Amino acid sequence: MSIARIKGFADMFPPDSDQFTRIENTARSVFGRYGFVELRTPLLEFTELFCRSIGEETDVVQKEMYTFPDRKGRSLTLRPEATAGVMRAYIESGLTNREPVSRLFTTGPMFRYERPQKGRMRQFHQINCECLGSHSPMADAELVSMLLRFLSDLGLTDLTLKINSLGCSECRPKFKAALLEYLKGVDRDALCPDCARRVETNPLRVLDCKQPGCRAITDNAPKLIDYNCPDCRAHFDTVLHLLDGQGLAYELDHRLVRGLDYYCRTTFEVVSGSIGAQAAVAGGGRYDGLVKSLGGPDVPGVGFACGMERLALMMGEGNAAASDFYLVAMDAQSRTQGWLLAQNLRDAGLTGEMNFSEGGFKSLMRQAGKSGAKHCLIIGPDEAAQGSVVVKNLES
Ligand code: HAM
Repeated sequence: MSIARIKGFADMFPPDSDQFTRIENTARSVFGRYGFVELRTPLLEFTELFCRSIGEETDVVQKEMYTFPDRKGRSLTLRPEATAGVMRAYIESGLTNREPVSRLFTTGPMFRYERPQKGRMRQFHQINCECLGSHSPMADAELVSMLLRFLSDLGLTDLTLKINSLGCSECRPKFKAALLEYLKGVDRDALCPDCARRVETNPLRVLDCKQPGCRAITDNAPKLIDYNCPDCRAHFDTVLHLLDGQGLAYELDHRLVRGLDYYCRTTFEVVSGSIGAQAAVAGGGRYDGLVKSLGGPDVPGVGFACGMERLALMMGEGNAAASDFYLVAMDAQSRTQGWLLAQNLRDAGLTGEMNFSEGGFKSLMRQAGKSGAKHCLIIGPDEAAQGSVVVKNLES
């Protein structure tokens, strides 16, 4: 019996894999213009890194991580996102002592044990950007506009930028108290079971529940922005002002609290109107206390990640690039000559492959027709003797 792949994990052939390459190359080109450099971090980290950064009470840590002991009994986890590992690497490398501001991007697979559906995988891929070392709202606005530039360079439209401010460790507890007070007054039984639990563990998440019952209850809940302290408010106003200055449209979304605990101040998401329920193509925000909470210096940061599967869904069916030639040969001698010709053509910059088999003419031509190449090159004994080749246009 053959062995199947794991549910929620995908193999990727062209044109899907070509699309991923295009997404990554576009990211490298756009992010490079903003001074971002590429960092690659391991897929496996100590479990504690994710518990401490993403937060014990989040869905990701509670129910979605691939966690297991290694052979020495240490608890390891396949990364569910990139930010935590990037912070660990940033602290461990001492980068903070060498440059005041670091702009790092990373791409690769992430792992979350979620229920697979269109746009949601257990192994999925992110393009992730982090700007470390700046308190300035210009850093937030720069990241948002870089993200939108990247999405536009991929040719994507029908996107909405949603933005909110979560406040800081000074003002958010006041909001949380007001929200709890509000939730105390509502009918708990009308909340979904997840939210009934969240009221105790993570009340902010009740705000972004998608269940109609919960949404109706939170329609009149207090709004984060109204509880922002003057510094947080000024920070957020500057971010919005800079986006306005660039003519970038956004929607203020008071429900946008994000599913990971490390955020403060600016948070944002980009959602697509064309890919169904899993519509968030990118999300991010500021996380000023994160580096310190992981044992590093008190360095602020802001970042985002895009889901590559969702970008690919928006880009639609790609076409595999047609190669220039498909070479077939009729007998042993012409096969040798054909093989040498194929090498020369590639040296000259053309793309193509040769059929090595000893099949009959009809069968070889059938395979050529299926190859998707632009031209079929045919060499038989006559061509081999004359040093020539028959070129058949497969497109016409
Ligand atoms: P996130 O919102 O959890 O943020 O994920 C970012 C993006 O990854 C989502 O908007 C979505 O496109 C994609 N994504 C998440 N889960 C899945 C899945 N199961 N299948 C397919 N795509 C998925 C973060 O991960 C933060 N680390 C972003 C960040 C970076 N914040 C600051 N820096």
